[in-house]
Amino acid sequence: VSSSEYILGAATSIEVERALAADCRRCALWQPANRTIFGEGAHEAALMFVGEQPGDQEDQLGHPFVGPAGQVFDKALVAANIERRSIYLTNAVKHFKFQKRGARRIHQKPDSAEMRACLPWLQAEQRIMKPKVIVMLGVTAATSILQRAVTISRERSRPIPLEDGAIGIVTVHPSYLLRLPDADARERETRRFEEDLRLAASLLT
Ligand code: URA
Repeated sequence: VSSSEYILGAATSIEVERALAADCRRCALWQPANRTIFGEGAHEAALMFVGEQPGDQEDQLGHPFVGPAGQVFDKALVAANIERRSIYLTNAVKHFKFQKRGARRIHQKPDSAEMRACLPWLQAEQRIMKPKVIVMLGVTAATSILQRAVTISRERSRPIPLEDGAIGIVTVHPSYLLRLPDADARERETRRFEEDLRLAASLLT
């Protein structure tokens, strides 16, 4: 066990975990990606959001949820009256996984081994930030947080007690909204997503 393995998941500060995660080699995703995208946000955040993994823009710019899915997410936060700077925002997997197609880098879903390799970082964030409510954006986030198989449609929009005393809310990933081809469906699903964020915020009081 290397010294970083020893500290991994055991440090008391999010800055230390972030610094350790920057050199993470626990799976192969670090190599083609530009950087580790660790969670960001308020230190005393009662509300934590977990996405899947950084995308192309995030990998280039160095922050979570700053690309197209991030824009959808930002709008929903505004609609739900949640300030982005009041939350902690992270991903289940902290490197961008992609396939090269010409100049483009096409998003690939992380597999279970990659999710498992990244889990100590997510658990460290959970342990240090101690959020009251964790919103799981999509199936990868929900699987990593709940540590079991999850069907979004079945578990969505209802408070789930977590082992550490926090409350979990499962919802869709914002990129799901981007992929809906039908404008009416997109509108309807966007309202539903905003409702889930409102529900999460209401659990804080
Ligand atoms: N999608 C995610 O799940 N996370 C990001 O940070 C960006 C896009």
